Amino acid sequence: MNLDFSDRNPELGGLYGPHIEEVCRRHDHALERAGASHAVIFSGASKYAFLDDNTYPFRANPHFVSWAPLTRVLIYYQPRDYWHPVPGSPDGYWTSKFDIRIVHEVGEVASHLPENREKCILIGEVDDDNHAFGIDRINPTTAINILHFARGSSKTGYELACMRLAARRGALGHIAAAAAFSKGRPEFAIHQAFCEATSHAENELPYGNIIALNEHGAILHYTDLDREPPADIRSFLIDAGGQVHGYASDITRTYSNGDERFSDLIALMETLQQDLVNRIKAGIDYRQLHLDTHRLIAGVLIDSGLASGEADALLSEGVTSAFMPHGIGHLLGIQVHDVAGFLENEDGSTIDPPSGHPFLRLTRILEEDMVLTIEPGLYIIDMLLDNLRGTPAESLVNWSAVDALRPFGGIRIEDNVRVLADGCENLTRDAFAELQ
Ligand code: GLY
Ligand code: MN
Ligand code: MN
Repeated sequence: MNLDFSDRNPELGGLYGPHIEEVCRRHDHALERAGASHAVIFSGASKYAFLDDNTYPFRANPHFVSWAPLTRVLIYYQPRDYWHPVPGSPDGYWTSKFDIRIVHEVGEVASHLPENREKCILIGEVDDDNHAFGIDRINPTTAINILHFARGSSKTGYELACMRLAARRGALGHIAAAAAFSKGRPEFAIHQAFCEATSHAENELPYGNIIALNEHGAILHYTDLDREPPADIRSFLIDAGGQVHGYASDITRTYSNGDERFSDLIALMETLQQDLVNRIKAGIDYRQLHLDTHRLIAGVLIDSGLASGEADALLSEGVTSAFMPHGIGHLLGIQVHDVAGFLENEDGSTIDPPSGHPFLRLTRILEEDMVLTIEPGLYIIDMLLDNLRGTPAESLVNWSAVDALRPFGGIRIEDNVRVLADGCENLTRDAFAELQ
């Protein structure tokens, strides 16, 4: 199994040329529509914390990463600096694809750009006019929509290879984290076990790890890390991913520490999640899949004794939304919530989420080689369940079952899948199976 996450990976080297050709085609199309001839992609600058000389962790412009590791004419900034590590000489499978020009001062960049700046667009975040290099057209929406639509609609072979590696990297971390949980370790130590196994420094993670014991699992983006284990360890929800050459995995698993009722509920959610994965194929409307999920959640609520009545009533009275208040997933790629989840076409028209479901981040018809997540969940969130009191929904909820589940927080199970013509490739399950 390939676990080479470096830029010496020969498989990635073989796929990188065709990837760059595709990225070039997208940019040529975007430039033509924007009436320009050159795209200058600014990778970004470090940002300083308020009243401080320390910078926030650097995140490269995702447009830069789409060429990544680097771009066609690469102006490679290698500052003369003995305070910080400076990039070494360019090396790795990507270097042969570029005309690399090393500069030591930002002021030297301008001389490498086309003289006619009118013909240039700049893609990037420009906080300092010196970083616009005299280019007026910054992030024109015509070009950005074209690039985003293409990036969200399908992944190239190279991107898929990076994402399979990112899935393996994330799965390595999950296996180590599950082992730390079974040893009774606190959240902080579980987080460290994840970072150690993935060989990720915290800043390299694709998003902040969610490492939640017990009730913390009900906080959707729980990012505290308790240093001490709770007196009674009941459950563990981990949402954490790996990153390879800028591409992310986004994986969630939930574990019971032996409680039979909670284990049974996890099993019901596992069946539901796999049912959803099995429905994925090109042509599916993801909005409908989200709505269908709410019907399946109604079934889980009834089967587990958390609610009673008809599924239709649980849907219409908002019971399923109180237990599952987020979307069932989103596009995945360079960004964890990757671009273009709402785009209907490259002109920038958008597709709204279904009414009553504002948090759904993907509203499109699925296309071959899209990569997205499937992450149904079920939680005890008192703020939302309390809203049901005094409404017709109140009598549909079994409040004593809610009380029994509250100490376990919640359940989410999240896989990353690549859409195929008649099914899907489950990057996450494949990675776990390979590591068995
Ligand atoms: N890890 C964030 C999410 O699942 O969307
Ligand atoms: Mn996700
Ligand atoms: Mn996630």
